[in-house]
Amino acid sequence: MKESSFAKTILCIGAGYVGGPTMAMIAYKCPQYKVMVVDINPSRIDQWNSDHLPIYEPGLDDIVKAARGRNLFFSTDIENAIRDAEIIFVSVNTPTKTYGVGAGMAADLQYWEKTARQIRDFSDSNKIIVEKSTLPVRTAQAMERILTSPGSHIRFDVLSNPEFLAEGTAVKDLEDPDRVLIGSRETPSGVKARNQLVEIYANWVPRDRLITSNIWSSELSKLVANAFLAQRISSINSISALCEKTEADVTEVALAIGMDSRIGNKFLNASIGFGGSCFEKDILNLVYLCRCNGLDEVANYWKGVIDINVYQKDRFVLEMLQSMFNTLSGKRICFYGFAFKADTGDTRQSPGIFIAKKLLEEKAELVISDPQALPNAKIDLEGLQGKIDYIEDPYEAASNCDAIAVITEWKLYAGLDYEKIYQSMNRPAFIFDGRNILDHQRLHSIGFNIYAIGKHPKTHF
Ligand SMILES: NC(=O)c1ccc[n+]([C@@H]2O[C@H](COP(=O)([O-])OP(=O)(O)OC[C@H]3O[C@@H](n4cnc5c(N)ncnc54)[C@H](O)[C@@H]3O)[C@@H](O)[C@H]2O)c1
Repeated sequence: MKESSFAKTILCIGAGYVGGPTMAMIAYKCPQYKVMVVDINPSRIDQWNSDHLPIYEPGLDDIVKAARGRNLFFSTDIENAIRDAEIIFVSVNTPTKTYGVGAGMAADLQYWEKTARQIRDFSDSNKIIVEKSTLPVRTAQAMERILTSPGSHIRFDVLSNPEFLAEGTAVKDLEDPDRVLIGSRETPSGVKARNQLVEIYANWVPRDRLITSNIWSSELSKLVANAFLAQRISSINSISALCEKTEADVTEVALAIGMDSRIGNKFLNASIGFGGSCFEKDILNLVYLCRCNGLDEVANYWKGVIDINVYQKDRFVLEMLQSMFNTLSGKRICFYGFAFKADTGDTRQSPGIFIAKKLLEEKAELVISDPQALPNAKIDLEGLQGKIDYIEDPYEAASNCDAIAVITEWKLYAGLDYEKIYQSMNRPAFIFDGRNILDHQRLHSIGFNIYAIGKHPKTHF
């Protein structure tokens, strides 16, 4: 297809975990559109243009290879890309602010605002701007104010189209989403812009899953969705602590409550807690918004979700310390997994980081193993005091260790030869299953001492 024959030119600013896969899917499904993805980070763009994509997602390589060079392009030329595009998605990072008013709570909108100014400065025709990043409710208003320069005849319609994909299943989530939410101003021009975005998704998403709303509901829904998901995790994790005290088994409790169709069975696996770049930051953002609106009770309620998450990680470390005779000094502990969840190499806010730091403070030696996340793990733990080895092979990693801690629920860890692993470890050998993915009965019969989340320990003492 020649460039001039594309039906539309779509741009995404920000080639990260969201921008890259989302645009790859649009390009893959809609060969009639030209899709450009730009970033300020040239090495990220080089990676998107190479055989080694900057992120690991099952199925992503195939769709990128199918569309790249055909109608999907990655570039650092932000200025020209803005000029050419009719629709601009903004998918830059919106981390928690670390300075000034709202530090540690509010969203840091500096990258977002810079992008808005770039769009204003380089545009010479009307455009639809789509908020893809997760943002505080009412950000679109600020965006509109930045984009509107006095005397300019260029019209910008701002839409909110939050991304609900989950890392590890991003391609599946994008190909077959539960829903796509598009919020707009309810003016004739806002509704017209919203319909244009609906038509893009309608190329492959069934119409009944394309939902529209006012722009503020759309912005807020993303924060609320993440808050509810994280709340499920903290809810079952809080119960896991009670299970450990009472000899109830959290897996059995989760099964029993999850079969109630009003509760449902998803997101009920007790674990060392949630990680990832979004849950904590989005809840903090929600808490901050509540406080700014004078809703302290509501803020405190959601803050509790984060408090339980910290408590759960702390409990895991304390359990290791207490069960290994109250000293970890010089003991070798092998981490099975470091990514914040399976099927991704992303380690942002991984519980593994928190746990590794605490164990190093106890003077334990660490061996980190993970099929995808070792490069990121090395960056996360760089400069910490103590001995850390990085070994991908799980057998070699566990050899001569005193304990294994399952940090990530990679399927491969459930299928290992634990007889062989036991033979290579120091005695007594411990397994701390932070994801409840192993066969505890069998491991106990091999000789391991097993500590799992929300379960009575199985030991040989
Ligand atoms: N990661 C997820 O699973 C997920 C899911 C849903 C929503 N989100 C939201 O999507 C947004 C992006 O998240 P992410 O995980 O993709 O972040 P990311 O850090 O992986 O990617 C953001 C990219 O934006 C680039 N960038 C920043 N400022 C820029 C500018 N002025 N011009 C061009 N590029 C710029 C950065 O270099 C980076 O590559 C965040 O708001 C996040 O909350 C993330």
